[in-house]
Amino acid sequence: MGGEARWGWRKLDSIPFIGLCSLILASLCFDVALGIKSSSYTPADNYLINCGAPDSTLLDDGRTFKSDPQSASYLSTDENILTSITSLPKNVSPSSSSSSSSSSSFLLYLTARIFNHESMYRFLVFRPGRHWLRLYFYPLPHSTYSLTSATFTVTTDNIVLLHGFSVKDSTKSVFKEYLINITSDKFTLKFSPMKNSFAFINAIELVSAPDDLVTDSASAVFPVGDFNGLDDHAFEVSYTLNVGGPIITPKNDTLWRTWLPDGQFMIFPHGAKNVSVPPDIIKYPDGGATPLTAPHWVYATADQMAESGVSNPNFNLTWEMNVDPTFSYLIRLHFCDIVSKVLNELYFNVYVNGMLGVSSLDLSTLTSGLGIPYYKDFVINASAISNGSVIIQVGPSSTSRSSFPNAILNGVEVMKMSNSAGSLDGLFSSDGTYRGRHSRPTLKMKIAVGFVIALGVTAIALLLLGVLRRLRSPKGYEKQKTFSSWLLPLNASHCSFLSSKSKSSRSTTFPSFVSSGLNLGQFFTLNELHEATKSFDEQAVIGVGGFGKVYLGESEDGTKLAIKRGNPSSSQGINEFQTEIQMLSKLRHRHLVSLIGYCDEQSEMILVYEYMAYGPLRDHLYGSSLPHLSWRQRLEICIGAARGLHYLHTGSAQGIIHRDVKTTNILLDENFGAKVSDFGLSKAGPASLDQTHVSTAVKGSFGYLDPEYFRRQQLTEKSDVYSFGVVLFEVLCARPALDPALPREQVNLAEWAMKQHRKGLLESIIDPNIVGTITPESLRKYVEAAEKCLAEYGVDRPSMGDVLWNLEYALQLQGTSPTNFDPADNTEAKVANMDQLCRKDSEKQLIVDSSDDSGLAVGSPIFAEKFQGR
Ligand SMILES: *[C@@H]1O[C@H](CO)[C@@H](O)[C@H](O)[C@H]1NC(C)=O
Ligand SMILES: *[C@@H]1O[C@H](CO)[C@@H](O)[C@H](O)[C@H]1NC(C)=O
Ligand SMILES: *[C@@H]1O[C@H](CO)[C@@H](O)[C@H](O)[C@H]1NC(C)=O
Repeated sequence: MGGEARWGWRKLDSIPFIGLCSLILASLCFDVALGIKSSSYTPADNYLINCGAPDSTLLDDGRTFKSDPQSASYLSTDENILTSITSLPKNVSPSSSSSSSSSSSFLLYLTARIFNHESMYRFLVFRPGRHWLRLYFYPLPHSTYSLTSATFTVTTDNIVLLHGFSVKDSTKSVFKEYLINITSDKFTLKFSPMKNSFAFINAIELVSAPDDLVTDSASAVFPVGDFNGLDDHAFEVSYTLNVGGPIITPKNDTLWRTWLPDGQFMIFPHGAKNVSVPPDIIKYPDGGATPLTAPHWVYATADQMAESGVSNPNFNLTWEMNVDPTFSYLIRLHFCDIVSKVLNELYFNVYVNGMLGVSSLDLSTLTSGLGIPYYKDFVINASAISNGSVIIQVGPSSTSRSSFPNAILNGVEVMKMSNSAGSLDGLFSSDGTYRGRHSRPTLKMKIAVGFVIALGVTAIALLLLGVLRRLRSPKGYEKQKTFSSWLLPLNASHCSFLSSKSKSSRSTTFPSFVSSGLNLGQFFTLNELHEATKSFDEQAVIGVGGFGKVYLGESEDGTKLAIKRGNPSSSQGINEFQTEIQMLSKLRHRHLVSLIGYCDEQSEMILVYEYMAYGPLRDHLYGSSLPHLSWRQRLEICIGAARGLHYLHTGSAQGIIHRDVKTTNILLDENFGAKVSDFGLSKAGPASLDQTHVSTAVKGSFGYLDPEYFRRQQLTEKSDVYSFGVVLFEVLCARPALDPALPREQVNLAEWAMKQHRKGLLESIIDPNIVGTITPESLRKYVEAAEKCLAEYGVDRPSMGDVLWNLEYALQLQGTSPTNFDPADNTEAKVANMDQLCRKDSEKQLIVDSSDDSGLAVGSPIFAEKFQGR
């Protein structure tokens, strides 16, 4: 998952730029011959290197990249062995985008330089200030080095650009673009391979950017106010979009940027209509935007509201872009009134992640004319994007003085801001120190451990009692899990944080939601679902629970779906059903199973989910014939699940408690990506600050139950943390949380593992398949995290966020060491038919174990394809 998330969403498609270039040391002169005479720009520093290339490379944009021999003087290597690759892979177009046909940028990906020790490029900086740094990566085939397994860190003098970076997919190139402030007259770009690994690079650009491209201040949308100090941040370009227009290649951009079309990021494309004017109509103002800010073509196209003539078009145009929620972002929006006939007709509101950015933006007054570019910068704090996306909205302002409300947007730039560790990737700073939050050392831990021993016996007795009771009356147990209880029991006010995409976010009823069609998931007709499941064929059943059955279906376009059909006899009021879908449809996160749609025809209550091809995590740990997972895979799965839970807990002011965290509720997609599922028992967290828990009847699964919750019947997020601790030991030891068949002291995994750990005997109960592949440091960190989760008192347990960091740390500490001798990595053939295995296996398990409604499956081609910009 981590590797994939890093893959650059931007492919440098083509770099045409007609011109002439002369290369003297580091300065270039361009004679620009564009349709429109842009003010040409000559960068003071202009280092272009095609690493590993025997000769210099001329791109069709007129820029020449230096060859390896020509750039040898920049490279500082100790006694490293350097390898150049000049193999020309058959048929591979590293930039997989189809629109790149005319591009010559693929020439940059055909060679690479490999470093098996720390190595650096050193550049003299003629002019300190903002510089573009562009890095090109493509894992070319090589006889000795498998570039897809290279894992490395890239840093500058004081910024971490990439940490533990790798390109796992040999069919994709990765392009990274940074805008960094260089304050000295020297600049170092350092490649540091992880232990036993190596690094590579295909091409490097270091080019001066105009001084005033980004100023020191911007508007902060959350918390509202001014943001100063942008100069102290480095940026990584996440998205550069030409709204309402075609791709703009480096040839037509003044600063060799690529502007992609916005189509795929629009939430409701039917509500928008593109407009364009001839580019020469655009007149840059005397102060403010210049052709270097964005070229004419960006301002000459826009999206406006499709129903702009209607007197009350009551919706927003909305764009959503995935980002890493642990970073703050700089967002630049470009506007140019190319839609109005006369001045003072266009007023609209601008929102960033649901928060008002500009109220009644009045371009006429700001620019005193039509067709005059204007841009505005916003900074959004990490805490306001915990749902993992940046959402831009424009919509008519209610105080609009115009009789034809409209709203427009011409361009969007989203840039990730370096964090307090000076990093753009993780929490390690450039000197290698970890700057994450450390959980406080605990004196209380020891007391807690004491309590665990004292209460363990009692707890086991109680739990066993519960198990027996459950075994004896499975019917009664099931009855509690009605269709409706399976849904999130939330009301509208609890959830307003999730509603940024909905026009009804503020209201408490959703009367028109079925017809509004705005991002409430797809509406399926009963007929469609009959077709998808072959009339709810018993053969298609992949899970059974108290609420009814889960079917594996296939939509018309071949997308696999998990279809959960409510048992008609357990029906609830239609309003409640609608409200609950409204809530669920907004729970969107990479690591939560997504709701795709629903059907409420003919008093049916059916929910349609993404299908998770590899089924529950538990099946991959024990009790099945599936190949076992490597330690690295297990860590990545735990990290994914922790991210999902962290989002549930912190995504809102109030948080949501899952209440049933276990290995059967963590589902895997076909890339072993983990998603948390089954919110059947979930609860909204405490409503107010002075209330720290929710009182509720004890529900959950035995073996995972928080003893404190069990005793006091008070629910907090820390109950999920406890259950997650059990999951961590289950993953490490590959045995059930509760196994009544074992000798008494071993029945409860949490207790047994802690006991063995205290005796220093933990290794004896680790899954024998992986015990030799875990580095001692990684194991120590992991067990430390699991142990803290199991603290007797909730207050002593870490937050999911802390757990997450510790697991990521454990992954760092594992480095790349086990991959060489990890037998799990040699299971390509097995993986090939994993799909079938999983399906067969989970069918068997789910139908037998019908009291467990974890059959909900995962893997959404619909959402999985979204770019993961970082
Ligand atoms: C790029 O510029 C050329 C003229 O130099 C023009 O014909 C072409 O349409 C432009 N492309 C875009 C995407 O604007
Ligand atoms: C504008 O919209 C039309 C139809 O909606 C589409 O065919 C066209 O490609 C769009 N133009 C651009 C530049 O995106
Ligand atoms: C537009 O979006 C904002 C923020 O999400 C919301 O407050 C507002 O009500 C929306 N406007 C309409 C007309 O839906």
